[in-house]
Formats: sequence, structure tokens, C-alpha cells
Amino acid sequence: MYTPEYRMRRLRANSNIRSLIRETHLSVDDFILPYFVVPGRGVRNAIKSMPGHFQLSIDELIKDAREAMKLGIKAVILFGIPESKDPLGSDAVSDEGIISRALRALKDALPGLYVITDVCFCEYTDHGHCGLLHGEDVENDGTLAMLQDQVRVHARNGADMVAPSGMMDGMVGAIRQALDEEGYSQLPIMSYAVKYASGFYGPFRDAAESAPQFGDRNSYQMDPANGDEAMREAAIDIQEGADIIMVKPAMPYLDILYRVKQEFGMPTAAYQVSGEFAMIKAAAANGWLEHDRVMMESLIAIKRAGADLILTYFAREAALKLGQDR
Ligand code: PBG
Repeated sequence: MYTPEYRMRRLRANSNIRSLIRETHLSVDDFILPYFVVPGRGVRNAIKSMPGHFQLSIDELIKDAREAMKLGIKAVILFGIPESKDPLGSDAVSDEGIISRALRALKDALPGLYVITDVCFCEYTDHGHCGLLHGEDVENDGTLAMLQDQVRVHARNGADMVAPSGMMDGMVGAIRQALDEEGYSQLPIMSYAVKYASGFYGPFRDAAESAPQFGDRNSYQMDPANGDEAMREAAIDIQEGADIIMVKPAMPYLDILYRVKQEFGMPTAAYQVSGEFAMIKAAAANGWLEHDRVMMESLIAIKRAGADLILTYFAREAALKLGQDR
């Protein structure tokens, strides 16, 4: 009979010893909850492909966020769906735009909530691309000026942090400059530094009504095949002044998340995107996966790979579960 020299199972024998040696711990402090804000009052449109998520009018957003805070959630990120869209996405740069109004109302009603804004134009343009069009392509440097206008508006309406997601070259530097010039040198930037051209954004584009009307985002978002390029994207954004670096999506890109955290040691965020959420929801609804178990496993895996912050549509359910399991 062969007797093993090393017995790893000793420390797996029961839940007490397992919890004593556990390396990674999830906390509600890790989570950022995404919201989709629409005009109107009393609006709560269910997003079919994202069970439990809604397009919310500002009054409903406040109610919902108040409940989320009771679960311990401290931070949210806002995506706006404007009344009307145009080629320049003008709602995004107006003090009466959907995000401006949501910011003022949220900060007024829930001053203890940390409110992050997504900085991008795809939800506001009628063509659904992330900035200024030149022919069929997004014009980089013209878009930078628009992003500067957008962050000025977010800052003066009360955003606690801005998160540029459009993958324009120079976006972090341009935004940092605009904020500093306006006296917001203390306002942090979380850059979607490493954002892939991913099919996993499908449900989000329904929720945010932001699908491109022609073409795709391959000329600005990253090729899923590339890893070294992610290091260059992150390095450039750090140099331009990003305070937090994001990798997106999360689960299919844990290798990238790991490399970014190891290489730069920056506060690192991961976005568990709409498609990752929808896959788990759909499988669980069919009885093919255990919902809570897989939800928690996916989040702990993201944290273990190197995420300090996790943007996740599971924020509320995971917070609830963490509270129950304590
Ligand atoms: C762009 C943006 C997108 C997401 C976050 N910010 C969509 C895109 O690039 O098309 C996707 C998030 C998700 O899928 O949950 N404003």
C-alpha cells in the first residue's frame, strides 16, 4: 500500500479548520452596484436578460439605493438613458441631463452613498458609438474634448468618482486635466483601462439601449486574444493619472486581472459584466447550477485573482448572503 507523505486533507476536515486557513475573503465593502437611470417618475422597467435589475427613474433609484445601503453597500455606478439621443450625445454634457439630475437627487437624499459615474457617450448618441463619429469611425481626439465636458458636468453635479469606459487614447489624461483645471484635483478616476471588445456586454446594451447602430467597437476596445497589450493599456492609464485600474469583463479574463495586479500593484477593479451575470442567472433558472453557490464562487475567484473592487450585478444578493452566513 502506498502512503502519501503529504496530507493536504488534514486542513480540510471540517468547516472550522477550513475557515481558519482560508486565504481570500469577500466583503460587501468590495462591491460596486451598477444602476440604469431613466427619465420619468415611478418607472421600474424590468430588464429581461438581467433578472432583478431594472431601468429606474430617479425617485425609484433613491428608494432602491436606500435599501442597498441597508445591506451594507457603499458605492454605486450610474449609467444614464436620456430622454432623447442625438449625434453628439448632448444629454451627457447638460446640467439637466439624466445623470446630472440623478447625481443631485441621490447626493441630496443619500449623502452617505459613494456615487461613481460611467463616462462614455454610447448611451447618449443616436448611433450608439462611444464618441464623435468621423465617417463610420469614432474620432479619438474630438471625443476627448467631449469627455472633458462630460466630467466637468459630473463633477459639478456631485459625482464622487468618474469612470471613463470608452477606450479612447488619452482619455485619462484629458479627464484629469479637465478636473484639475476646474478645481476637482481630489476627484479620483477609475479607468476602464483594460476593456475587451466582448460579447459578454450583450444584456447591458439592452439595459442601457446602447448597442451600436452599425459596425462594432473593435476599433477602440481590445482584442480578446491580447494579453501583453493589456499591460501597455494599464501602464499608459496609470501614467496619465488613473487612481484605479479596471479589467473588464472579469471571469473570462482572470489571467489579465492577475497580471495587472501583480505588475502594477494598483487598486484594481474587475467588472463582472452583464453577460457573466446573465449566464449564471439563466443556468440557475433552469436548475442547471446552484445560484448562490456559483454566485459566491464567481466573486471569490475574481477577488482571488487580484480584484480589490468588484463591479457586480450580484452586489445586493451577495451582500445579503454574506450577512446571512456571518
Ligand atoms: C460603455 C459601457 C459598456 C459596459 C459598461 N460601460 C458597454 C459597452 O462597451 O458596450 C458594459 C457593462 C456590462 O456588460 O455589464 N458605456
